[in-house]
Amino acid sequence: MKTILVTGGAGFIGANFVRMILSERKNIKVVNLDALTYAGNLENLSGFMENKNHDFVHGDIRSHELVEKLLKEHKIDGIINFAAESHVDRSISSPGIFIDTNISGALNLLQCAKELGVKRFLQVSTDEVYGSLSPDEDKFSEETSMKPNSPYSASKAAADHLVRAFQHTYHIDTVITRCSNNYGPYQFPEKMIPLCINNIRNGKQIPVYGDGMQIRDWLYVYDHCTAIMQVFEKGESGEVYNIGGNNEKTNLALVKTLLKLLGKDESLIKFIKDRPGHDRRYAIDNSKITNSLGWKPSVTFEQGIARTVDWYLKNKAWLDHVTSGEYQKYYEKMYK
Ligand code: NAD
Ligand code: TYD
Repeated sequence: MKTILVTGGAGFIGANFVRMILSERKNIKVVNLDALTYAGNLENLSGFMENKNHDFVHGDIRSHELVEKLLKEHKIDGIINFAAESHVDRSISSPGIFIDTNISGALNLLQCAKELGVKRFLQVSTDEVYGSLSPDEDKFSEETSMKPNSPYSASKAAADHLVRAFQHTYHIDTVITRCSNNYGPYQFPEKMIPLCINNIRNGKQIPVYGDGMQIRDWLYVYDHCTAIMQVFEKGESGEVYNIGGNNEKTNLALVKTLLKLLGKDESLIKFIKDRPGHDRRYAIDNSKITNSLGWKPSVTFEQGIARTVDWYLKNKAWLDHVTSGEYQKYYEKMYK
């Protein structure tokens, strides 16, 4: 039996990861540390809170005392750090918390891992650390230099530098993953895809920033999770792995796809003022992870997006609880 510390496991990707591990890997115990910020939602873990291989801990990755205690008590074999402030627009209006959580939080985890001899540390990073591509530029490879443009991506890049420095200086075993934009179940509806689905189902307009011709490279969240686990188990120490499924779409094309899947016309599209410093294009060259680890996505974009729309329509209560704020009462109801 192995025990891993997953941080941020009540958020979108972390919760999908915890659900995948507890469903598919009976020999892995998950200690799930999450501060339950606005983005953390225990309803994302429904059906898994009582699982005997799952220990949910409400707490902050910046607490040295708590992280040290968890590593000791649970004899943690490895750490996978998902915990972060993750929304670019929020980082533009309030950058400070991004520095605290994404940089100081990662530093604290690294220091605790070093002190207690944790065998492997995986940092879940993002393609946004590379900056923005023009339409005809080569995709991001692991060798592309980091040129982060938003406070969010700058804080993630800083954490990546710390991970690298801890490997180099203290010989800690680390790996970093840099994935493109994710979509799928349990994503907080401030992000583009669930926001569109929620607005369309309520007959509300879809706010498209600028000309809508920005490009994102979309990956179904389950496929991000399988890639993380493969890097955690088989990735080479000290390496960075880009993760993406070759699905570049303009925001406008994405919105039109969602409108079509939900049977609504394009009159709901509303062009609004652009995001300051908006990155034009992200695109991942995934040849390293596909060639060296044999990872590949399980679904095409068309399958994944249809499955996602279906999930939100079947889980209206989840969306309603998030949009009404009801989800924040779940912890008190269940555990206090
Ligand atoms: P999210 O915002 O949905 O979830 C973040 C989780 O971290 C929440 O549960 C929150 O409560 C928790 N958290 C925040 N601060 C914390 C703290 N101080 N201590 C403990 N927990 C804390 O984010 P997400 O979209 O699931 O992203 C997860 C990770 O993946 C992030 O590191 C993000 O940078 C990275 N990433 C995201 C995407 C994407 O498209 N969403 C793509 C690539 C990489
Ligand atoms: P988002 O989901 O916030 O992810 P990121 O900014 O990390 O890529 O946004 C995806 C794209 O959609 C991005 O180019 C910004 C754009 N967008 C809109 O046009 N309107 C919106 O209301 C939101 C939230 C995003």
